[in-house]
Amino acid sequence: MRQEELVKLVDEMTVEEKVDQLLQLSADFYTKKSEEMTGPLTDLGLTEENIKQAGSTLGLSGAQEAIRVQKEYMNKHRLGIPTLMMADIIHGFRTIFPIPLGLGSSWSLEAAEKMAQISALEASVSGLHVTFSPMVDLVRDPRWGRVMESTGEDAYLNGEFAKALVRGYQGEDLKSDTDRVAACVKHFAAYGAPAGGRDYNTVDMSERQLRESYLPSYKAAIDAGAKLVMTSFNTVDGIPATGNEWLFREILREQFGFDGVVISDWGAVKELIAHGVAGDEKKAAELAIKAGVDIEMMTTCYAHYLKELIEEEVVEEKLLNEAVLRILELKNDLGLFENPHRGADADREKEVILSTSHRKQAREIAAKSIVLLENNGVLPLSMNQKVAVVGPGADSQDILGAWSWQGKMDEAVSLLEGMQAKSDHIISAEMPCDYFELSEDMISCAVKATSNAEVIVLALGEQEWMSGEAASRSDICLPKEQIRLFKLLKDTGKPIIVTLFNGRPLDISELDGAAAIVEAWFPGTEGGNALSDILYGDVNPSGRLSMSFPENVGQVPIYYNVDNTGRPYEENPDEKYVSKYLDVSNYARYPFGYGLSYSEVVYSNLQLDKEVITEEEAIEVTVEVENRGDYLVTETVQLYIRDLVGEVVRPVKELIDFKQIRLESGEKQVITFAISEKQLRYTHRNMNFSSDNGDFEVMVGPNSIELQSKCFELKKIRG
Ligand code: BGC
Ligand code: BGC
Repeated sequence: MRQEELVKLVDEMTVEEKVDQLLQLSADFYTKKSEEMTGPLTDLGLTEENIKQAGSTLGLSGAQEAIRVQKEYMNKHRLGIPTLMMADIIHGFRTIFPIPLGLGSSWSLEAAEKMAQISALEASVSGLHVTFSPMVDLVRDPRWGRVMESTGEDAYLNGEFAKALVRGYQGEDLKSDTDRVAACVKHFAAYGAPAGGRDYNTVDMSERQLRESYLPSYKAAIDAGAKLVMTSFNTVDGIPATGNEWLFREILREQFGFDGVVISDWGAVKELIAHGVAGDEKKAAELAIKAGVDIEMMTTCYAHYLKELIEEEVVEEKLLNEAVLRILELKNDLGLFENPHRGADADREKEVILSTSHRKQAREIAAKSIVLLENNGVLPLSMNQKVAVVGPGADSQDILGAWSWQGKMDEAVSLLEGMQAKSDHIISAEMPCDYFELSEDMISCAVKATSNAEVIVLALGEQEWMSGEAASRSDICLPKEQIRLFKLLKDTGKPIIVTLFNGRPLDISELDGAAAIVEAWFPGTEGGNALSDILYGDVNPSGRLSMSFPENVGQVPIYYNVDNTGRPYEENPDEKYVSKYLDVSNYARYPFGYGLSYSEVVYSNLQLDKEVITEEEAIEVTVEVENRGDYLVTETVQLYIRDLVGEVVRPVKELIDFKQIRLESGEKQVITFAISEKQLRYTHRNMNFSSDNGDFEVMVGPNSIELQSKCFELKKIRG
């Protein structure tokens, strides 16, 4: 449809029809028998009419069902407008990929794009049009269960992932490429900073911090063309995001130039009442529509009160018309007016969903996301070593992670299965997968299994339900019984390789003495195969943490790009009156960017091609990187910067670029980066985004700690 036709269509709609476009209901309303829906219908105070006209649904899938629902819907709709089908496809549809925190650890934008593309294809053939992804909330607190959904603690890295994911989901053109789906970036804004790491809790930070650290990744997704933005549950400076005009009208629409659809998070419009900024649903509707929320997910404040608010002239009808037009534009961008069933195709569903090639990609991407945290040389394993595989995660298929809506655990490859597929020398304990209780029986099974082994692989971690939404923990240690098992096995004197399946950075200080520690996150459907590829050295580990692992929960929030204090510990470590703890170091156990491989990689000869730059020329940074080991290496060369004297206190380092390279055994490469004045800009006191004249430190290395550095000066011609 042409734009004029869309505008005309809005003109033809009654106020009720328009208001219903703004309503999003769950799939149940369309898939269950109407008598089963009487309860929910009355609960929400909805009429058959509302359901007939609600502009979108969430959580419906399956080509046949999607086609049936769309046909019925359009037949019943007076103007034949198609509905929009949305769902959470966060780290895969049926083929499950590593959780986003794992994906973040791959530092592979190519992997992210591929994952998104495959997810979009599987979702689209199943009839979906929109995914509620990417979630790009910056995170600094591993107590928050939703860190598993984020790519990590760094604004720049999150932004790069945001762009790659949007590209992968949406492709070039949603109308012609029906194998793609529209992307919804979330949760706007700063949902990743709840006080105390407790989900849905208050977020309070300076506007400068918001702009500098939290907003850039949403902006990156929007610049990459994300079609929708979802509101967040939290407050921002005292105003809940879902009723926050400043956030949506001024920042998102005016400053970021976003012209797509804004959708509330689940029930968030009505939650304005619980927050205490609206006394009733009517006020909640008023605040949300004025803030610029187009679609209300799963509550009915708009459905009940928007018409009244317009009649009473509290809300201008113009706001409703704009919201409807944006929703129709999205439907049109997806080609739904001409092609209401779009990609939905039951035959292709059979062909592409969980196909061999998707499984293969999932395996490769999962292997890229695995981070080798410790290794005393015990890894990689050799084929004829006798290996006992024990622990609650050993034969567990609970490795998909919390946002695997369509994923099926019984389709997941466990670690034991993956290892048995490679080697005939695997001894299994055949113990149940209990993550919390260790019976004497289980202990003796485990100890017995290890008696004939040369090496022990001990699979520990969290279960899926322990991270994700509404799954915050105040204690980020492994369950006590798992540590007991580790200690018992340590007494055997055999080397223990601990593998971890989990959704957050953990306090693993109790694992001291492990011969190796391998962080596998929730790796998805092909997890066991991918982890075995790493353990046997078929793939050299290349994952690097995108979120710091603290020494203990008391250090939280902990992140690498901290501001300097007036009494930095580093400059005076023996002094009492410096910024430090009495009982733990200031540093992460495993810092941002950290991860080992099976090769020794050496960085040397950092060079800058000039000492002074202006806004008109870039400085060239070169460094030599050499693989001194026997394995092919995928190395992530990281570039950090520090503004030595700024108008505002600047972080001690900030990632501004990275390059992922492949190095054959013995190979040395010269890696080049260019830094321009643009990359030195930051948010000043007056919210201007600009750079300071003066000295900068450039740092290059394999992680945020082991860095070589050199300085240069920025001397702008125009001051
Ligand atoms: C979550 C969102 C999700 C939505 C729809 C909410 O509870 O916060 O991330 O997209 O539900 O399932
Ligand atoms: C303390 C102040 C104290 C001052 C003079 C500083 O180190 O922070 O509270 O008044 O010393 O003793």
